[in-house]
Amino acid sequence: MKILIVDDEEANVKLLSVILSRKGYETLKAYDGESALAIVGKQDVDLILLDVMMPGISGFEVAKRVKAIKQIPIIMVTGLMDRDKIIEGFKNGADEFLSKPYLQEELLLRIGNILKVKEYQNNLEGVVEERTKSLKEALRRLNIVNKEVMHRLLVAAEYRDDNTGKHVVRVGEYSRIIAEGLGLDKEYIELIQQTAPMHDIGKIGVSDLILNKPDKLTFEEFEIMKTHVIIGTRIIEKGESPLIETAYDIILHHHEKWTGQGYPNSKKGKDIPLSGRIVALADVFDALTSARPYKPGFAWDKSVSIIKEEREKHFDPDVTDAFLNNQEKIKTVYDQYTDNTRIEKTNVA
Ligand SMILES: [Fe+2]
Repeated sequence: MKILIVDDEEANVKLLSVILSRKGYETLKAYDGESALAIVGKQDVDLILLDVMMPGISGFEVAKRVKAIKQIPIIMVTGLMDRDKIIEGFKNGADEFLSKPYLQEELLLRIGNILKVKEYQNNLEGVVEERTKSLKEALRRLNIVNKEVMHRLLVAAEYRDDNTGKHVVRVGEYSRIIAEGLGLDKEYIELIQQTAPMHDIGKIGVSDLILNKPDKLTFEEFEIMKTHVIIGTRIIEKGESPLIETAYDIILHHHEKWTGQGYPNSKKGKDIPLSGRIVALADVFDALTSARPYKPGFAWDKSVSIIKEEREKHFDPDVTDAFLNNQEKIKTVYDQYTDNTRIEKTNVA
């Protein structure tokens, strides 16, 4: 244990040093406040014995400056024991007072006690640090498990009508590009990208006969198809994790329209969560460019112009602009994740 002795009287320093060295403490010496602060700045010190009355910086000032940078226990050794001064000392960071002349035994007991408390605090900090680390690791693992479970659910839901899985990847990527174009924060962008692919998870509860019908759906069949939104929300259920919460919002709102003519709740404008407004556009764009059992895929230009026409009708105008302003990036994803569901025909109406 290293103890710094600060006193302008050399004899006092010498005496204290002898007493402490005999008890096995290592001592450092300073004869004014400036040198004491210099030592504290450079070395690890476990305790300071600090004289109050010194030329230059006073002991109180030294205590204050030490505590501003390091949590080192300080015992003020002083002849003046007026109550106001003691209070001032405590306010400045003193942990103990010892009046001169002091008994050697009392000095050593006080030092021993303070160092015991310091050691306890150090251990406690170590335990807290260790537990915080374990907690962070547990959260990190939980996050990975969450993502994995979401991914597996997704695979199950998409297996029947998109066994390449590329539709959901494209919707995730388009949504990310739009979110970036809107200048949203990094964490939210990542959430959108991860959860956008979940938008149609409720299709797991819709009959294959309807999902894969080669013709346009009848009114009744379309009503059944629409239930995929509600089925999806039942699968996910609004939870407390941002991942589940965002997935829920996307599932529930990806068929709502800016003008309020969508389903299931005919929500309008900004009443529709932003994540839902983003995925609505990404999903429609991907549907336009992809072939379905009842239609071929539209060409790129045709699909973009339909999106443009639907600005402020089906789609949020800001979301539409973010999409239109980032067409190059969208095109890269479009080309990268191509699959056999896309039949490009420039003459398709
Ligand atoms: Fe959908």
